[in-house]
Amino acid sequence: MIPHASLGICSRSDAPSLLTMKLHLLPRSILACCVLPALSHATEGMIDLSKLSNYARQTIPSYITKDNTTAGNSISDAGATLGRVLFYDKRLSRNDTVSCASCHSQSRAFSDAAIASAGVNGTTGRHAMRLINSRFANERRFFWDERAATLEAQTTQPIRDHVEMGFSGASGDPDFTSLPTKLAAIPEYRVLFSMAFGSSTISEARMQNALAQFVRSIQSFDSKFDIGRAQVANNAAPFPNYTARENNGKALFLNPPAPPGQPQNGAGCAGCHAPPEFDIDPNSRNNGIISKIGGGNDLTNTRSASLRDLVHPNGTSNGPFMHDGSLATLAQVVAHYNAIPGDNANLDPRLRRPGGGVQNLGLTANQQSDLVAFLLTLSGNSVYTSELWSNPFDAQNQLSLIVLPTQAVTITTDSSNQLTIRCQAAPNLPYLLQTSTDLIQWTTLETLTSDATGRCEKVVPMSGNRFYRFAFVPPS
Ligand code: HEC
Ligand code: HEC
Repeated sequence: MIPHASLGICSRSDAPSLLTMKLHLLPRSILACCVLPALSHATEGMIDLSKLSNYARQTIPSYITKDNTTAGNSISDAGATLGRVLFYDKRLSRNDTVSCASCHSQSRAFSDAAIASAGVNGTTGRHAMRLINSRFANERRFFWDERAATLEAQTTQPIRDHVEMGFSGASGDPDFTSLPTKLAAIPEYRVLFSMAFGSSTISEARMQNALAQFVRSIQSFDSKFDIGRAQVANNAAPFPNYTARENNGKALFLNPPAPPGQPQNGAGCAGCHAPPEFDIDPNSRNNGIISKIGGGNDLTNTRSASLRDLVHPNGTSNGPFMHDGSLATLAQVVAHYNAIPGDNANLDPRLRRPGGGVQNLGLTANQQSDLVAFLLTLSGNSVYTSELWSNPFDAQNQLSLIVLPTQAVTITTDSSNQLTIRCQAAPNLPYLLQTSTDLIQWTTLETLTSDATGRCEKVVPMSGNRFYRFAFVPPS
């Protein structure tokens, strides 16, 4: 007879492998794997690690080939889920007022409407960058001036920055070393780190890995460009879904500028922002935008985020653009490249004239608006609303419930028809053992406290068709 008791948690996509793994490891375990329908309701503020969102196996178009993932830190669903919580948590700032999302807002392609963003001690010296398709690029360095060698290294810089999040050790503010201690005192982080990394230790390296996984997971490939690109053999072929003006703008973007004296049919943009990723050429120098927010010059800005999602699909701008936020519209951007305002010691040679002087393309007004029409086709849709990248906290800024993953729970039976239900999670914390007959309504049987090794265990009599799970309630 096959007993009906089973584990009430099972991720849809990897169910078969989990099932195999579990049965292999635990010959006496019972696992009637269940398909979890959309019915099982998502409560606000709930993190359900038993059916993790798919961050690791998102669909990536076949024409996308660049990938700057750091060896050893590929995206995992549990890692990116932890990264999402960290990204939206204001407790990562010294006075609990600023999160990454304060300056990188999902509704604006993870940028900020303000030219300079407000941090815990004043405003930033550069404009906040969009965080779209950061992974799909040849460039591995991050920030406008490329001072971070990897995305991992980048992610804790804002936390250490005196202005942004304030764990700077300067002017009486705490230094970074106090942050892991602060987070370790928040029990839900011990649970989440232990599920993502196998132990509840909180370190800068683990925070970097989780945040970088989350940022790399932010992808946008449902634009008009992608629909067209999927229908043709290469970037240059006219796209069947484009208007004549959009196709003309695309050709201008791709073609190099014509030699002096010949009719202009290229703006040379692709030389530095190569499609289909529209990532920056790692060798680019500056593009002639050299002013600094607050005055003075800055020649060091040689990186741009991907040119995807410069505008929201509803037409509102995700600008202002450039490191100093000095260009409010895409028409101004195109006008800038049409006539570079002046030379400087670090201007990219591609923006100089072959014979001397700076680029002056002489694009007509129609050509300039065609280029803008093309740039508007690079915006996706789902990235602005998908729950994958949305705020996981509830209206009180809390997580309400963390359901432990399938891997953390084992159920075994013995000859006397008793079930032993075990969980392996962060040590010395109380977990709810919950049961359900329909996977929708869950009743708490008991609160069990894990021992110093993270284990808790309960023996129950086998009874009918029941599912079990463990959950953690973050203290308010
Ligand atoms: C106070 C505003 C603010 C906060 C808070 C903030 N950022 Fe930023 N972010 C910025 C600004 C401004 C830049 C550009 C800074 C520069 O290049 O000097 C930036 C740049 C970045 C970049 C580089 C993107 C690229 O393409 O090179 C990443 C990634 C990033 N931030 C992630 C984060 C993460 C993760 C957090 C939270 C740990 C965070 N930011 C918190 C304002 C902020
Ligand atoms: C020589 C390399 C180069 C060429 C050619 C080039 N760009 Fe750029 N682009 C850059 C750099 C570097 C930046 C970042 C500049 C800064 O903010 O200081 C940038 C920034 C941008 C931005 C702002 C992105 C943001 O996040 O604010 C847009 C839009 C843009 N470029 C569009 C274009 C277009 C359109 C063309 C062709 C007309 C073009 N670029 C040609 C190097 C180049």
